[in-house]
Amino acid sequence: MRRALLALAAIGISTVHALTGQWACADELCLTATRDNGIDTYTLQPVADIPHSHFGWMAVGWGAQMIGSPMVIVWPNEDGTFTLSQRQAIHHQEPPLVASPPRTATLESDLSWSNDTSTSITFTMPSNSDNTTSFIWALSNTNPANSDPGANLIEHTWRGVIFASMEADWTGNRIQMSSKFDTHSPANTKSGKASFALIAHITCGVLATMMVLPGGVVVPRITRGLTTSNWWFRFHQISQGICAIALIAAGFGIALRFGGELDSTHRKTGVALFALTIVQILLGLFAHYYTPGWRVRRFVFETKRGRGPSNFLHVIMGVIIVAVGWSTCWTGLTDEWHRRGHGIPKNGFRIGWGMIIMLWIAAYFLGIIFLLPRQLRIESKQRDEMRKYENNEVYRNSAVALANEYYMEERGVKVFSPTSDMHQLSPEVHGNGNDLPRSPTHSQYTFQSYPRSPETSPSQLNISSFGNSSSTYFGHFAAPGAPAPPNPSRPEGLDGGSVEHDPPATNLSANLSAVTIPITLAPSKAVSPPPPPRPPRQHNWNLMKNKI
Ligand SMILES: *[C@@H]1O[C@H](CO)[C@@H](O)[C@H](O)[C@H]1NC(C)=O
Ligand SMILES: *[C@@H]1O[C@H](CO)[C@@H](O)[C@H](O)[C@H]1NC(C)=O
Repeated sequence: MRRALLALAAIGISTVHALTGQWACADELCLTATRDNGIDTYTLQPVADIPHSHFGWMAVGWGAQMIGSPMVIVWPNEDGTFTLSQRQAIHHQEPPLVASPPRTATLESDLSWSNDTSTSITFTMPSNSDNTTSFIWALSNTNPANSDPGANLIEHTWRGVIFASMEADWTGNRIQMSSKFDTHSPANTKSGKASFALIAHITCGVLATMMVLPGGVVVPRITRGLTTSNWWFRFHQISQGICAIALIAAGFGIALRFGGELDSTHRKTGVALFALTIVQILLGLFAHYYTPGWRVRRFVFETKRGRGPSNFLHVIMGVIIVAVGWSTCWTGLTDEWHRRGHGIPKNGFRIGWGMIIMLWIAAYFLGIIFLLPRQLRIESKQRDEMRKYENNEVYRNSAVALANEYYMEERGVKVFSPTSDMHQLSPEVHGNGNDLPRSPTHSQYTFQSYPRSPETSPSQLNISSFGNSSSTYFGHFAAPGAPAPPNPSRPEGLDGGSVEHDPPATNLSANLSAVTIPITLAPSKAVSPPPPPRPPRQHNWNLMKNKI
């Protein structure tokens, strides 16, 4: 009798509480929510098949937003078990465990599965009186790798809102929700693999940080010790100023599309890399094109080569940027890869990263140890040549002042070249009966020299020459007798350098009176007044444009 009553009651209850509920799907997750006999049963399963290796966790919450909604989070473990964790978010952060939830959920291990095809997890909880409920849901590709319900969770890859009516008659039909409440990461495909955008981001990032940035530093470091050509500077400009910034900007732009917050080391170092690279390019342009005036240079240091503080800052920043780039690459391949749900990164990534940076570091330090001294030697030799050249210039100017019509050819071609004025002068014989053979066509010119400095009196310098009026003359200087040749003051620029070994101008006439020297007459050229001597420091700045 009692048993019959119980059976009746059971039939009665089952007729009153027929199976109700809905099967609702968002873009990435389906929720099957049924109510039967005071028990609500929920099944969570991703829409696209996600193999166990890429499966993270799934969550459903009662409410329309994350904060304040009770949640059930489930995930499969390596050992084939499942973990159920009831949590509630206080902030937009990882929700903490709730000790005594309003309704306690029970995992249905027999109905749950996870294998190479996909994962489906079912749990039950006591019914409440709600009919139509909005559910928040989330899905992550990163497994907590821990069966403890309080395990640390890495942020969801997708999330959204689903509506399901617990009291609607169960039809078994799938209801597709509008995806307007869903957000997802463009870095992941639905099955958790790397999207095309992510592959492009990785390609740009790896090329920029592992190849172009260190290459633009190391290759010039080596070539500058091997050759004096400016080839390295063009290379540096193109590699860093065009290729590196283009790749970094492209990688950064793609990363912005991935959305989310600045919540990982990779994202922070990536932003730093982008900002530092832009600052560095501006600094490089500044160091190269801006020549500080004397007002500024009084207050800053400057090397012999004309390198100022901006050059050294540029080098230090460059080394920092390369390091930030390597760290961005490392965190992207390790932490970020896992964090955004692409599974456990393969060891090959780490090994490849380590090998590449070891090669760059070795090349750079070998360059510093063996080639930097050589480069400095080459530069110092160049400075010496520069100084000689400048001295030559001063000497030439003095010579012009000394002999008016004569000037020295540049770069140590030590011949006197008469100018056009010479031919206008009347030939006036001043032969002093020296023993040189004379050609019948010989002629003598007298030149008036103007004083180089006020204390030198005007005097006369005679030259006897013969030959054709066009090309090469053989002639000699002769002291005219009464008025002594000028005794010019020593030019300032004559200290040091090879030109000093030439016979000083004072003894010119005396020594040369007996010697025949070849004189090349240059085609008519007007004597230009000697340019004012430039300060050597300035010259260094102009010469040494490509400094670092
Ligand atoms: C995974 O389990 C589901 C449900 O039991 C099954 O339908 C599917 O064939 C399984 N896949 C594999 C690869 O075992
Ligand atoms: C629950 O909601 C569904 C759809 O909104 C509706 O069809 C059904 O009648 C409701 N049931 C109850 C008991 O209110």
